[in-house]
Amino acid sequence: MSEVGIERMGFATTGLFLDMRDLAQRRGVDPEKYIIGIGQSEQSVAPSSQDAVTLAAAAAKDALEGEDMDPIDMVLLGTESGVDASRAGAVYVKELLGLPDRIRCVEVKQACYAATAALSWALDYVSKRPRKKVLVIGSDIARYGLNTPGEATQGAGAVAMLVSSSPAILEIEDDGVFLTAEAEDFWRPPYSNCALVDGKYSTQVYLEFFSRLWKRYREETGRSIQDFEAFLFHLPFSKMGLKALREALKEADPDTASMLSERFEASAAYSRRVGNIYSGSLYLALLSLLEGEALEAGSRIALFSYGSGAEAELFSARVKEGYLSRLSPERHLKMLEGRRKVGIDEYEHLFSDFPPSSPQDYVCDKRYFSGPFRFLGVKGQQRMYEADE
Ligand code: CAA
Repeated sequence: MSEVGIERMGFATTGLFLDMRDLAQRRGVDPEKYIIGIGQSEQSVAPSSQDAVTLAAAAAKDALEGEDMDPIDMVLLGTESGVDASRAGAVYVKELLGLPDRIRCVEVKQACYAATAALSWALDYVSKRPRKKVLVIGSDIARYGLNTPGEATQGAGAVAMLVSSSPAILEIEDDGVFLTAEAEDFWRPPYSNCALVDGKYSTQVYLEFFSRLWKRYREETGRSIQDFEAFLFHLPFSKMGLKALREALKEADPDTASMLSERFEASAAYSRRVGNIYSGSLYLALLSLLEGEALEAGSRIALFSYGSGAEAELFSARVKEGYLSRLSPERHLKMLEGRRKVGIDEYEHLFSDFPPSSPQDYVCDKRYFSGPFRFLGVKGQQRMYEADE
């Protein structure tokens, strides 16, 4: 089978952020609990004019800069904060990007696992049609609610990947092992714009799924921890990934353990500042690692994808020669540095200004318009979007 994998990557988040120290102070919590205990220092805050669609389109624009759009045959959007119960958000994304009508656009759902399912479909697709490319995006806004335990782990953002048979960044190996078993750890009922989560139980299920898959992966491939130059995790908050890494490190020699721990920190750098972006989170860890560390060509990376409910996959990938020239670390750092810090009152106001789940019209606050794409509001029960000229 020919090589398949990721040729380009892009990232988007909102223009606003909350400092976790400010949140800790208002909630009467020791800031060290958020920063060290949970492992988050900032979280992106979404005004209502930014949703899973606008963030997905912005990440895709970032990934596709200067790219020939012609080979793109399909847009797959993995999201669990989708904007419509029927229509795929990918259809809006396609329109905002100005992609031609001859392509397919589909939304994939299974909690934070969705983008991995989409990626796997894309890899199969391009291996059968080596001249075609697929745009895969994981885009979400993580909302748990004001004054809830989950509040410290909210976030907003999207990661886009151009999947092709010319994987200039990462070749993805066909060695994935999967696991699905019902777990009431996290879900979002249709009437709610916030997720319900049993945080302690979700950590337990996540760690159990990781251990079972890591065991099976080693049995099926004959590989061990020494075969990996980095371990990447879905990061609902960075401490969760660290707990799973510590499980895997039990069998590592000290040098390997120290190298993998260092690389884990590099992979969590963006996530610590953006927060949970659900389906894009694992791929944000990938981008953060690749933009923050110089890895040798051929380095093998393990990727653990987890979606509550619950479903998980462990697979591997190999870094391509010259991958950094296809990425934009300066641009992404500038994007993070360029966000405006909001105070707690403003954050709480923005959090509560959410489009109603009833037929009435709604207009987004223009003062918060930012980014290349905006959700304008709802008119006559239809969502309206706008792109920069
Ligand atoms: N200094 C340093 N550390 C401190 C501290 C202090 N002063 N105070 C507490 N801590 C530590 C605690 O020891 C604990 O660390 P360990 O877990 O290593 O023991 C950590 O801080 C958190 O403390 P608590 O457990 O007491 O905190 P909490 O009750 O507020 O809950 C949480 C924390 C469980 C992470 C909660 O924020 C939460 O539920 N978040 C949501 C979790 C989540 O997203 N789950 C779904 C996972 S998968 C996903 O992304 C969903 C999907 O598929 C869609």
